[in-house]
Amino acid sequence: MKKIGILFGQERTFPQAFIERVNSKNAGIEAEAVHINKVAQGEPTEYSVIIDRISQDVPFYRAYLKNAALTGTAVINNPFWWSADEKFFNNCLATKINVPVPKTVILPSRELPTDTADQSFSNLAYPLDWDGIFQYIGFPAYMKPFAGGGWKNVYKLNDMADFFSKHAETGQLVMLLQEEIVFEEYYRCYCIGGKYVRIMPYEPRNPHHLRYSASFKPSPEKLKEMEEIVLRINKYLGYDFNTVELALRDGVPYAIDFCNPAPDADLKSVGEENFAWVVETAATYAIEKAKSNKEGADNLTWGEYVRTSANKEALI
Ligand SMILES: Nc1ncnc2c1ncn2[C@@H]1O[C@H](COP(=O)(O)OP(=O)(O)OP(=O)(O)O)[C@@H](O)[C@H]1O
Ligand SMILES: [Mg+2]
Repeated sequence: MKKIGILFGQERTFPQAFIERVNSKNAGIEAEAVHINKVAQGEPTEYSVIIDRISQDVPFYRAYLKNAALTGTAVINNPFWWSADEKFFNNCLATKINVPVPKTVILPSRELPTDTADQSFSNLAYPLDWDGIFQYIGFPAYMKPFAGGGWKNVYKLNDMADFFSKHAETGQLVMLLQEEIVFEEYYRCYCIGGKYVRIMPYEPRNPHHLRYSASFKPSPEKLKEMEEIVLRINKYLGYDFNTVELALRDGVPYAIDFCNPAPDADLKSVGEENFAWVVETAATYAIEKAKSNKEGADNLTWGEYVRTSANKEALI
């Protein structure tokens, strides 16, 4: 019997509900928590599909998943792409596929990376063109790590002095500085399998437990426009499981955060209805992937960016 595994960290609602849901479908495919006791090079795992919810925090798991992918497991999400991707690249790509994004620059870390010295940075102007940067971005601005999540080290900055004092706290983190999008409405959008989309009204200005109780009512046209953007982003990035956050300014959906390959799926935060959708859709998609799995082949999803690059084609 083909098996689906789920690899997870401290989560205690989504992985368990996912396993139960897959098994209750009696699709001839069994789901369980991934079990690892020895990882040797070139040896396949027992899973046709693995849903990865944690390798962003566990480098050992990321390496395990690459070997699993090489030996035929469909890893959701593609561990190679996930290793390459970060929020700055996401924004850069968005500018090339006609997805509106806030103006964004990337900054060298405030402190020298470990094992580097002043002499390591002959290529970097000192000081940077701060006037040019601030003129381009404007204030208020947002500053956040180029790879990160969970609202960690996300700052709203009012002026230049605020920027320099907060940037001084960021150590070796590489930060993005970004135009603030002053939005009327905000949506967090699940995209599974590059085709199943759920657009969830989300009010980030509410306290954590009330963020999904937003009452925005998008028109059918706006829903369609947002769905199209969510699909386009995920098609180019090649994520099987991701959320895209869209902030609407003057009705235009700006993509704010769309590098969330292990998005929050906890029952307590997303609420019962969204949770049920995520569990059901993830189970359906994982079963589809298990059924179409070709033994020993590459069963990963690769995005249009990688595909067109490999073929030396233009992006769009
Ligand atoms: N450019 C921006 N304009 C307006 N608001 C922003 C901007 N960037 C971030 N925010 C606000 O800050 C919040 C956190 O930012 P972001 O989602 O980028 O960080 P994160 O750490 O990746 O969060 P997550 O837990 O969703 O992965 C957003 O939900 C949004 O409310
Ligand atoms: Mg976010």
